[in-house]
Formats: sequence, structure tokens, C-alpha cells
Amino acid sequence: MSIATSHLDLTDDAVTSSTSDEDATLALITALRDSVERRLSDLLPPEDRAPSQLHAAMRYSVLSPGKRLRPVITALVARQCGGNEAAALDAGCAVEMVHAASLVIDDLPAMDNAELRRGRATNHRVYGEATGILAAISVMNQAYGIIAGLDGMSAEHRTQLTTLFTQAIGPEGLAGGQEYDVNGAAGASPADIETVNRRKTGALFSLAAQAGALTGSHPDMDQQLTHLDDFGNHLGLAFQTLDDILDVEATSAAGTGKDKNQDGGKPTLARVEGLDAAHAAVRHHIEHALEAFEAGVGPAPGMRLLCSLVFDAALKA
Ligand code: IPE
Ligand code: IPE
Ligand code: MG
Ligand code: MG
Repeated sequence: MSIATSHLDLTDDAVTSSTSDEDATLALITALRDSVERRLSDLLPPEDRAPSQLHAAMRYSVLSPGKRLRPVITALVARQCGGNEAAALDAGCAVEMVHAASLVIDDLPAMDNAELRRGRATNHRVYGEATGILAAISVMNQAYGIIAGLDGMSAEHRTQLTTLFTQAIGPEGLAGGQEYDVNGAAGASPADIETVNRRKTGALFSLAAQAGALTGSHPDMDQQLTHLDDFGNHLGLAFQTLDDILDVEATSAAGTGKDKNQDGGKPTLARVEGLDAAHAAVRHHIEHALEAFEAGVGPAPGMRLLCSLVFDAALKA
């Protein structure tokens, strides 16, 4: 299994020499993803309600076949913390909506000018740039509404989650990372590249994991959130570095469902330091991500399996 497909391959064949424990973990991840798919659809406005083209554009990008890594991470953390699973499902869907909206924006002509996303035409190519932008704003807005209305967690934790949500999306997070990325303002040293990737990709992984923890009631919540922040940062670095490796290595768009050579002139680790160094960095960051995850929430068979499904085949290739 590789990240190169938009779907995670969740068949038993994907896990080589799987044990019955791995089968059970795989079944859990599959069930969590199925719940996410259903809930995302329920949380979005129906296409047959006006303004129907805007609603259609929102549904098109959120419900297209993504891996759903972020909401699955939220759900795995919540389960491990004895958190509220319904609240975690909704919080995870809100993070996934932010992610989907960020991809619509990332693909716009003013940003990466991409034609393909998740194996389909990008939002602005189907609905036009104006509706694409409005759909991204609307999906992001819906996500904030979901966080504000979360049941099953304390008001204090909901407020804390709202603050983390705001930080992860704004200049300290996703938007700031994307600003550096498009304008090349951060520099091109490995440390500079790390700064960009932490923001544009790590911030949402940290948020996804922290949202799961905030549906629970760990006695030292601050420390748990710090470990999960660390987890998200390392996972984001591993993930973005692999995405950049695939951008260089993929021989066609077929494997990734995205345009290749998108990062053309951009300083990515794969381009600046070379593919071997980039592969080593991915391995290093996965190891640290899993250590931080276990420091935060204990033994992590679900998270380990998810990482193997995402990274193993691509790293062996
Ligand atoms: C793509 O993220 C954007 C990056 C951060 C590299 P994903 O690979 O999680 O995208 P989907 O949701 O599965 O399409
Ligand atoms: C990640 O950057 C996208 C976001 C953080 C929104 P890229 O531009 O490298 O991602 P892909 O390759 O288009 O998915
Ligand atoms: Mg981009
Ligand atoms: Mg892009």
C-alpha cells in the first residue's frame, strides 16, 4: 500500500503477513473511515438546496475520495483516551473539511494551478474560480460551526479546541505555511523547508490529534497536548517530505491522482538535499511521530498500522 493512491488500500492484502491483531486493527480503521464518509455527507448542505451550485461544489471537494487520515487520527486518539466518540467524529470531520478546503485553495490558478485532485478535475475547473473560492470559504465556515456546536465535551475543552483550530489554520499554521510556500519567503535550507512544512502540513495533523484528546479528560491535558503537537509536527514533516518525493519520482499523475512536478521551482527537501536524504528524513520523522504519540496516549497499534499503510510501500519503492 502506498500514499500514491487517493484511497488507502484497506484490504487484508495490504498488510503483509498480517496477524489477527493486525486484522482487527485494520477492521477498526476501515470502520472509522466509513463513519467519517457518512458523517461528512450528513454535515454538508444538500445539493438540491439553493444555492445549489455552491453546495454541489462544497460536496464535490469534501466527498471526493481522500484518505481521511486526519479524522481517523482524531478518532484513534479519542478511543485511546476514553474520549467521547461522537464528539471526536464531528471534530475530525471539521478538520477534514478544513483540509479539503485548503486543497481547493491550493489548486487554484493563483496557487499551484493544478488540474487534478484525488484523480478528478480540480474544483475550479468544474465550477469556475469564483465558486471554487466561495466553496472553500463555505466549507471552512461549516467546520467552525461544527466545532462551536460540539456536544459531549466540557465547555473549557471546546474553547481550547476552538483556539487550537484558529491557530492551526491561520498565519501560525496552514495559511502561514502556504504563504511561505507560494512566495518562497522562508528560504531554502533544510531548516527553512521544515518551518514551511510544519505550518502548511504539520499543523493540521497536530490539530487532528489534539482534537481527539480534548474529547477526553486526561489529568495532565497540557502535557498530553504537547506530545500530540509533537506527533503532528513529525508526522506532517514525514508526510509532506514523502509527497515531495512522489512529486519528483511519480512517472505520471496516475499514481497520485494529482498533477506531477507541481513543486517545480520550489525548494523541497527532495530537490534541495536529494532523494536519499529525503527518504531518510521521512523514516526519522515517522519514528519520532510514533514515539510522541505513544508518550501522549500509550501503545499505538492503530497509529502504527496507519503509518505502515501510508508510508511502507512508498519507502520500499
Ligand atoms: C495532501 O494531503 C496534501 C498534503 C498535505 C501533501 P492528503 O494526501 O492527506 O490528501 P487526501 O485527503 O488523501 O486527498
Ligand atoms: C500541501 O502542499 C497542500 C496544503 C497544505 C493545503 P502541496 O501543494 O505540496 O500539496 P499537493 O501535492 O498539491 O497535495
Ligand atoms: Mg501547494
Ligand atoms: Mg499543491
